[in-house]
Amino acid sequence: MKKLFILCMLALTTLPAQASPELAAKSKCMTCHQVDRKVLGPSFKEIAARFKGQKTAQTTLAAGISKGVKGKWGKIPMPPQKVSAADAQALAKWILTL
Ligand code: HEC
Repeated sequence: MKKLFILCMLALTTLPAQASPELAAKSKCMTCHQVDRKVLGPSFKEIAARFKGQKTAQTTLAAGISKGVKGKWGKIPMPPQKVSAADAQALAKWILTL
């Protein structure tokens, strides 16, 4: 019984952390982004560093993911991404933890 409880707690704490990298891969973010390396778009760590401590960061990033962004990081714009509003929030939240 105790073992089962520990297993459940483990599953609860590790699952959300992994959901977003998978979501990012599934949503094709990784064709243009990497966590710690610039590709076409800035690395997710760079984005997290720029927005660190800003209260509206998650909303700003989620809006950018859904509507697209241009001129903030370089000459290449990011087209609007086909993800649900909930997924955009989840991805923004995950990026900010990096
Ligand atoms: C076609 C390539 C491409 C794809 C696919 C892509 N991005 Fe981007 N992304 C970019 C580029 C380029 C920028 C920088 C745009 C700029 O300079 O304003 C960017 C910027 C961002 C930013 C920073 C926004 C800001 O306000 O500064 C976030 C967050 C982001 N992308 C997340 C994502 C997520 C999450 C996905 C997947 C759902 C994704 N991107 C898919 C190219 C892409």
